Amino acid sequence: MYFIGVDLGTSAVKLLLMDEKGNNVNVLSKSYDVCFPHTGWSEQNPSDWFEQSILGIKDLLKGFDASAVKGISFGGQMHGLVMLDSDDNVIRPAILWNDGRSVEETNYLNNVIGKDKLTEYCGNIAFAGFTAPKVLWVKKNEPENFAKIAKIMLPKDYLAYKLSGVFATDVSDASGTLYFDVKNRCWSKEMCDICSIKPEWLPKVFESYDKIGNILPELASELGIPTDVVIAAGAGDNAAAAIGMGVYGGGGCNISLGTSGTVFMSMDSYGVDSNNALHSFCHADGGYHLMGCMLSAASCNKWWMEEILKSSDFAGEQKDIKELGTNKIFFLPYLMGERSPINDVNARGCFIGMSMDNTRSDFTQSVFEGVAFALRDSFEAAYKLGVKIEKSTICGGGAKSPLWRKIVADVLNIKLLQTDNEEGPALGGAILASVAAGVYSSVGEACKAIVKPVNETLPDPDEVARYEERYQEFKQLYPALKGFFNR
Ligand code: XUL
Repeated sequence: MYFIGVDLGTSAVKLLLMDEKGNNVNVLSKSYDVCFPHTGWSEQNPSDWFEQSILGIKDLLKGFDASAVKGISFGGQMHGLVMLDSDDNVIRPAILWNDGRSVEETNYLNNVIGKDKLTEYCGNIAFAGFTAPKVLWVKKNEPENFAKIAKIMLPKDYLAYKLSGVFATDVSDASGTLYFDVKNRCWSKEMCDICSIKPEWLPKVFESYDKIGNILPELASELGIPTDVVIAAGAGDNAAAAIGMGVYGGGGCNISLGTSGTVFMSMDSYGVDSNNALHSFCHADGGYHLMGCMLSAASCNKWWMEEILKSSDFAGEQKDIKELGTNKIFFLPYLMGERSPINDVNARGCFIGMSMDNTRSDFTQSVFEGVAFALRDSFEAAYKLGVKIEKSTICGGGAKSPLWRKIVADVLNIKLLQTDNEEGPALGGAILASVAAGVYSSVGEACKAIVKPVNETLPDPDEVARYEERYQEFKQLYPALKGFFNR
């Protein structure tokens, strides 16, 4: 028996084949482009997601018995706006989670409708990356496109629709739209009215581990898989990553160092951040979570390495970094603006504090440290709410660097755990598919059976003390520069 997990990311789709015992037997990825048509804008073609996923599934199954595939599910980049017309054609490129164009609409929602009303209707305030402000942006700036809308959906829901013909979403991903009532796990009538969204444009809502339908017969024959393959609703990539890392129920924490950087705290019951720094969303296990999201995390290092240093030797560039907590250079990781906790689309990346004796590796180190300090900002927001975090799992491309993990453990002063499988969202997708197919009775049961912690990174008390001082300095930089960014 096999299950396919599809992690629909920003730079690539990652596909994972899991057997019935939960072993990851094959994994591969297919990349596609992100288009930045203006500073701070970010778009992708939904047809690329579908084409690369189909090619990827074909490659994934090479050498395996495709007739044993039982289910497919997803972890998808969140918040993206995909719009279809009445013939199911994509109207315009999808506007992604890290796109900052909808400042005016975000301000309108937060200041005219008001943060209290938004929190009452959907548990969150507006951030430019969320879907609702994007819908309002299209209405104002592209009325001809707005007039064509027959369906709006999130990125992974487009894939599920193409694979199954069923127009569906799940509660975790829907939570990031800002027209979803997170507490009651249904669309918010009030928010849909505010955003001029017609109810018939919206998909049916499922729990992440629910079956939404079966694979379409023509795709089953193209892929060589049975026609009764179950398609499960799946989850936003952070909720799927949490499941893939075994974070379910109350009191768990997962850090993802991917294109974005997230701190995901699982909760048994609904709660909101009264300071509006953290998102309050449904979890894929039937519960809830709080989450802080940085727009650029491992992508800062990718940018630094590839665009600036023109180097592909990621490990080599880290080998001279020996002393932690004494680097005098600070890096602000706001290359795409920032979401949690500062909510400022105009914030930008900076290196601060260089002197003649600084070396290339001091800069690389400062990039790692800047991302770790910005994650700490989300931890501080959680601590203000009384949330206790003594340890966390960590996943994503950045977590593969032992040095970066060490810096994060020191800056946060917590133990970090890795599991035997690094593919958080893709494994989470496969786990959700196995629950939907009835192999496990709950997400928790599946996680217990499948996910195993294998490696710990512990904070070092001396480095923790040095980084504490550095973090107190880092905290002063954004407030000092805010006026300049927003000039
Ligand atoms: C979460 C968020 C990002 C994307 C990345 O709110 O915007 O983590 O989901 O794919």
